[in-house]
Amino acid sequence: MGEDRVLELEKGRQARRSADVVSAIRFQETQRGEPLINDPFAHLFVSPEGEEMLALALKRWPFFAEYIIARDKYFDDHLTAFCQEGGVRQIVLLGAGNDMRAARLLFLKGKKVFEVDLSDQMRLKKAILLNALGKLPEQAVYVEADVTEDDFVGRLVQAGFVPNEKSAFIIEGLIYYLKPKGVDSLFEELGQIPLIGNLFLIDQISAEMQQKALDPERRGKPPYPEDVASYLSRRDFSIRERALLGNLTEKYYGKSYREKWWVVAAEK
Ligand SMILES: C[S@@+](CC[C@H](N)C(=O)[O-])C[C@H]1O[C@@H](n2cnc3c(N)ncnc32)[C@H](O)[C@@H]1O
Repeated sequence: MGEDRVLELEKGRQARRSADVVSAIRFQETQRGEPLINDPFAHLFVSPEGEEMLALALKRWPFFAEYIIARDKYFDDHLTAFCQEGGVRQIVLLGAGNDMRAARLLFLKGKKVFEVDLSDQMRLKKAILLNALGKLPEQAVYVEADVTEDDFVGRLVQAGFVPNEKSAFIIEGLIYYLKPKGVDSLFEELGQIPLIGNLFLIDQISAEMQQKALDPERRGKPPYPEDVASYLSRRDFSIRERALLGNLTEKYYGKSYREKWWVVAAEK
C-alpha cells in the first residue's frame, strides 16, 4: 500500500475516532438519571476506536466528558431560543459527525437539518442508521463536503439549502481540527450567505488545552483563531453570548474547572 493511502486511511480513522468519542460520552450521559441531554441514538456509534480515544482524553483532561455535555447543552439551549424567535427553517451542522439533533430534538420537526461532513464519515453514518433503524431521520439532508476546500455553500444549495431563509449553523468540535487557511476559507464561504440574522454556534479550545492535544500534529501549536469571539467580530458577526465550559459545568454539575474552552453564540 502506498504511503499516501496509509496516511489517508489514518486520517479517516482519526476523523472516525473524533466523532465516535463524543457519541461514547453522549451514550453515558443519556444513561444517567436526569441527563442534561438525551441522545437515544448515541449507542449506535459507540466504537472501540472512540472508547480508546475517550480513555486517553480522560487521562489528560478528567473533566472532558462534562465539557462535551456542557457544550451540547449550551448549543441546544441557544438553538431552542433561536427557533422560538420564529421563522427558522434550516439548521446546518458543519462537521456533523454522529450528531443526531435531527432526530433527538423534536422541535426541529418540519425544519431541514443539513449535515455536512467528509464523504467517508457521512457514508458510514448513513449505513449505521439504515442498518439499525431501517430509515434515515426525515429532516436530515446529508451533504458530503470538505468545509475547507469545496464550495460547500454551493453544495448546500444543490442539496436544497435556501440562502435567504433564516438558519442556524452549528460548528461544534470542528475548528480546532482545521488548519488556519481552512478556518479562513470556511468563514469566507459562510460570508457569502446573506446577512439576515442567522445564528452561529462555535467552540474553540485555548492554547493551554491545545498544548496537550492528543493529535501530535496539533499539539503545541497555537489554536487558530486564538480568540474566536474577536475573530468573529472582525468578520462582522455580533456576539450574542460567550461562555467558558469550566463555568458552565459549575452551573450544570456544580463542578468548576479552570481549563479554558470557549463556546460562542454569534449572529450575522
Ligand atoms: C469531533 S467530531 C464532532 C462531530 C459533531 N459536530 C458532534 O459534535 O458530534 C469532528 C467532525 O468533523 C469532521 N471534519 C473534520 N474535518 C472536516 C472537514 N474539513 N470538512 C468537513 N468535516 C470535517 C470529522 O469527520 C468529524 O465527523
